[in-house]
This record gives sequence, C-alpha cells and structure tokens, in this order.
Amino acid sequence: MKKIIIAIDGFSSCGKSTMAKDLAREIGYIYIDTGAMYRAVTLYCIEHRLFNADGSIREEELRSRMKDIHISFRLDPDTQRPVTLLNGEEVESRIRTMEVSSHVSPVATLGFVREALVRQQQAMGKEKGIVMDGRDIGTVVFPEAELKIFVTASAEIRAQRRYDELKAKGEEASFEEILHNVEERDRIDQTRKVSPLRKADDALLLDNSHLSIAEQKEWLKSQYERIVHA
Ligand code: DC
Repeated sequence: MKKIIIAIDGFSSCGKSTMAKDLAREIGYIYIDTGAMYRAVTLYCIEHRLFNADGSIREEELRSRMKDIHISFRLDPDTQRPVTLLNGEEVESRIRTMEVSSHVSPVATLGFVREALVRQQQAMGKEKGIVMDGRDIGTVVFPEAELKIFVTASAEIRAQRRYDELKAKGEEASFEEILHNVEERDRIDQTRKVSPLRKADDALLLDNSHLSIAEQKEWLKSQYERIVHA
C-alpha cells in the first residue's frame, strides 16, 4: 500500500491530536504532535529562566541555546501512546500545564525556533507513513502532503473540552481562564508574522463542534482510504 503524509492543522484544543493519534495507531503510521515540540521548548525556557518578569523571552539567550534543546518521542510501552522527551527526559505531563499553555505562544512566534523545529519535522517525514498535527503542517512543513485536514470547533466547545480534561486529571481549572487562553492563542496563532495558522487551499475543512470522537475517527479513516486506494 502506498505511504502518504497526513497533515492535520487547526485551532488549539479542537481534538486534532486525539484523531491523529488514533488514526496513526490504526494504520501503523508514525504520529508526531508538533505542538508538543513548541511546548517542550517553552518548558525549557521556564526551567532555565529565559522568560522576563513581563512574560517576554530572552531571545538571544534562547537562540544560543537552541542547539542544546533536543526533542524526541517514544511510545509508552503500557499505553502504546507517544510521550515527549526533552533532552532525554520524559516531560509529557509537564508540557500540558496551564503555565506552559500560557507561555507557549511567544515562543512559537520566534522565527529561529520555528526554523529549527520545522527542519526536524521535515526529517521525521522523509520516509512518509506519518501523521503530523500542528498549525503549519499543510502550509509550511509539508505543502506537498497527500492528505491535508483543517480542524475547527467553536472556542466555547474547545474550552469546555480542555476544562474537562484538566478536571479529569485532578488539576484546578477555571473555565473563564481557559476560554480566555483559547481565544488568546487563536488570536496569536492567526495573526503572527511567521507561519500564521491558516487553512491550506487544498485542505479539507472539518468542523467537529458537534461530532463525537468516534464519528471524527471514522471520517478521517475514510479520507485516508480514499487517497491510498485512488
Ligand atoms: O497544539 P498545542 O496547543 O499543543 O500547541 C501549542 C502551541 O504551539 C500553540 O499555541 C501553537 C503552537 N504551535 C505552532 O505554532 N505550530 C505548530 N506546528 C504546532 C503548535
């Protein structure tokens, strides 16, 4: 069967990674969550005190340290889910906190950070057989991807999903704060100068506001099958 590249882009917290991960597992593809890579760089900045008190980044310091930041993924043997490693250390849950979520946008706007991560992402997809999710996969990382999906859902629904997720993990969360964070990230993602979030002209649009996870999964699988059997 021919191997393809599947690029899944869209707004934050719209369930992209769940559907991408499930499809990858089902069809035996590698799954890469590029948001986790921007989050891991952000965690590195927090832990190495590269943020100023006003939330801005000590850019030159980060630029000189990019060569020391190594991000990789491995499959958790118990859950069979990918986990993120930062310089060899597992950071999967530490990159999903509100603190990282609220610091990640300025990191993701830096051209030199994006260049370094995009280069790694392109290398990961060299052999195809990959499902990658993010904001710029169909537009910048793999403009030649055979299947591109652009996922969206209303901000309120995405905030509610994020709220439920944090609560389920036993974390304190305020719906208002999460909604504000979702809207703020949408704004920054869409208006930043470098690689703004936008639907590629040839991407399929999926609004999943009122779809169940199972329905989305089925839809995505049928799109994959349409392409590989064409
Ligand atoms: O998908 P996520 O919420 O985990 O992504 C975290 C942040 O990283 C988000 O604010 C947008 C940014 N991002 C990006 O700019 N480009 C990508 N390819 C993936 C994520």
